[in-house]
Order: sequence, then structure tokens, then C-alpha cells
Amino acid sequence: MPMLNVSGLSKRFGALRAVHEVSFAVEEGEILGLIGPNGSGKSTTFNCIAGLYPSSGGTISFEGADITGLPPNRICHKGIARTFQIPRPFRNLTLLENVALSAFFGRNRVETQESVGIRRGGARAGRAADRRAHHDRRPWRRRAEEARARARARDPAAPAARG
Ligand SMILES: Nc1ncnc2c1ncn2[C@@H]1O[C@H](COP(=O)(O)OP(=O)(O)O)[C@@H](O)[C@H]1O
Ligand SMILES: [Mg+2]
Repeated sequence: MPMLNVSGLSKRFGALRAVHEVSFAVEEGEILGLIGPNGSGKSTTFNCIAGLYPSSGGTISFEGADITGLPPNRICHKGIARTFQIPRPFRNLTLLENVALSAFFGRNRVETQESVGIRRGGARAGRAADRRAHHDRRPWRRRAEEARARARARDPAAPAARG
């Protein structure tokens, strides 16, 4: 059984068919890329999977459960995490605190400490992680965004989706 199954996904914005009957499946551990010209519907597909946009048709299931139409917070709690092209960190927190917040949100402490290495996955320790000023510095900007998404995922070591 695929981990993520997208079947006949469609998303309309008024008359515009941004995504039209798209189907694909992702197995556990698989890395799948989505390529296409600007405006071809890649981000919209990610947004539908993450629940940011309600889809207009089709079904999305994760680990065998139908997640179609669930709000983003419920989907997030199931372990689907995403990054954004334009990161918007909490600027009053350090890089590490941003990642920790993502890891701890809605989880109990024991589970989090056991399953989530908040210093893993890109924002590798170092003093930079304890700074606020690094939010806009490359390569920390991208790394911190990825680490935040990984900390949220069910398996933080799993491949991350970029969208
Ligand atoms: N929130 C929105 N409202 C209206 N149209 C949108 C919205 N988001 C995306 N679109 C349109 O949907 C199409 C697909 O966009 P998008 O998914 O961002 O493409 P990609 O990520 O592949 O560049 C584009 O024509 C875009 O203008
Ligand atoms: Mg895009």
C-alpha cells in the first residue's frame, strides 16, 4: 500500500482548472519529484495535499486513511509536513526554537524526545541555530525551513517534500 495516494485530484479556481485529475502514489521511503512549467499546478497540488486549499475533486489518502477535506492542522498532525518557497519563521524565536516549536506542537514530550531529533535534518546544531539573526541568511534560511518541516513529519529522517 502506498504511503500517500492521490487519485483524480482536481482543483479549480473559478473557471481555471489549475489541477485536473492528477493521480500518483508515493511509497514509504520513495522520493518523488513533481516537475512542470510555471503555473502548471505543482504548488496547488501541494496545497491540496496539505489541506491549505480544499480540492474540487478526487481523493487523497495517507497511510491508508482518507484525508480528503481535512483541515491543515489535522493533516499536519498526521505527519504530513511541507516547506514553503518563502519561509515565514517566527522572528522573535531562534532557528532552533522554531524547529522545536514545530516538533512539540500537539505532541507529548516523551514521544517528541524519542522520535524527533530536533537538531537533525539540516539545522545542524552550531551556534547559528541559537540565533534570531540567521533567519534571513543563506544557507540557514532554507535549512531551517526544511528542519522545521522534518521535525513535524512522523519520521523526521524521511525525505522532505519541497513546495
Ligand atoms: N489562490 C489562487 N487563486 C487563483 N488562482 C490560483 C491560485 N493559486 C494558483 N492559481 C493559479 O493556478 C495555476 C497553477 O498555479 P501553481 O500551482 O502555483 O503552479 P506552479 O506551482 O506549478 O508554478 C496558475 O494558473 C495560477 O495562477
Ligand atoms: Mg509553485
